Amino acid sequence: MTSDTLAISATGLIKNFGGRRVVDGIDIAVPKGAIYGVLGPNGAGKTTTLRMLLGIIEPDGGHRTLLGHERPREASDQVGYLPEERGLYPAMKAKDAIAFLGALRGLDLKTGRKRAIDLLEAAGLGHAVDTKIRKLSKGMAQLVQLLGSVVHRPDLLVLDEPFSGLDPVNQERLEALIVAERDRGATILFSTHVMAHAERLCDRLCIIAGGKRRFEGTVADARGTLPMKAHYVPHHDGDGIAALLPADAVRDADGWRFTVPEDGAEAILKRLIDAGFGIAGLSIERPGLHEAFVRIVGAAAQDDEADSLEQAA
Ligand SMILES: Nc1ncnc2c1ncn2[C@@H]1O[C@H](COP(=O)(O)OP(=O)(O)O)[C@@H](O)[C@H]1O
Ligand SMILES: [Mg+2]
Repeated sequence: MTSDTLAISATGLIKNFGGRRVVDGIDIAVPKGAIYGVLGPNGAGKTTTLRMLLGIIEPDGGHRTLLGHERPREASDQVGYLPEERGLYPAMKAKDAIAFLGALRGLDLKTGRKRAIDLLEAAGLGHAVDTKIRKLSKGMAQLVQLLGSVVHRPDLLVLDEPFSGLDPVNQERLEALIVAERDRGATILFSTHVMAHAERLCDRLCIIAGGKRRFEGTVADARGTLPMKAHYVPHHDGDGIAALLPADAVRDADGWRFTVPEDGAEAILKRLIDAGFGIAGLSIERPGLHEAFVRIVGAAAQDDEADSLEQAA
């Protein structure tokens, strides 16, 4: 893919802080028009990566282009950014705070105020148009800041942990807003360590841990790294059933959970039926993004430990 089809393209990004490498050769390619998630545990290097992509800090190695610009800050007026550390002027009214953030990206204040009112109303915050920031709840202030990052209608929206600190109602408002921005034609890059939002929103995602990229692909690709799980409820539970189930089978409140072998569950189910245990309930599902994330990050930690032991030896 080229800069015609990619909103962001980065290869081999490196950042050291105080002699410690916190981002260690990260590649990211964000297709235009996509909702792209950067997932990772706390301290993985997500914020540092986003800041390098935006040109807020300079990488110590690697290469990146943002909306076709080699110097990301040249694209500033086409970019909206919600930083991890939030902050608005407490004495400003919501509509003025939004217009002010737009003005920093080249939008005239009058248009900004007009759009701010529409944006607040569309987000279900019409009642807060003239409310001062200091009177808003933390979650509402965060949404106002988010609206301030889209008021100039950017081509690219970069949101660092936008869901953190929001209650479930405001989280839903934010999800709707992200989808609306995508439908408007924007590309969205957001970081999170909460998988549920990513699972619903992302066209593609990467998982980073310990400063390295550990996975890249779609939600389905990530879930596909895990085997299917079965939940089986027998008609008659009894002695000998465990011997017919895979070794990892565990009993729960009403039945058994086990990993489906690569060649499928049919042979197991046939054994169970032949032995008279029957099938009162059965579901076979791919585990969710949360489970895939936990496994990928866990495997990364083990790899890193093995590497450091090797280096010490
Ligand atoms: N300005 C800085 N100076 C020193 N260390 C930093 C700085 N910014 C981040 N770090 C460290 O780099 C690592 C990655 O941080 P960060 O990119 O904020 O991770 P994430 O956003 O995934 O939680 C952490 O160990 C953090 O303490
Ligand atoms: Mg962060």
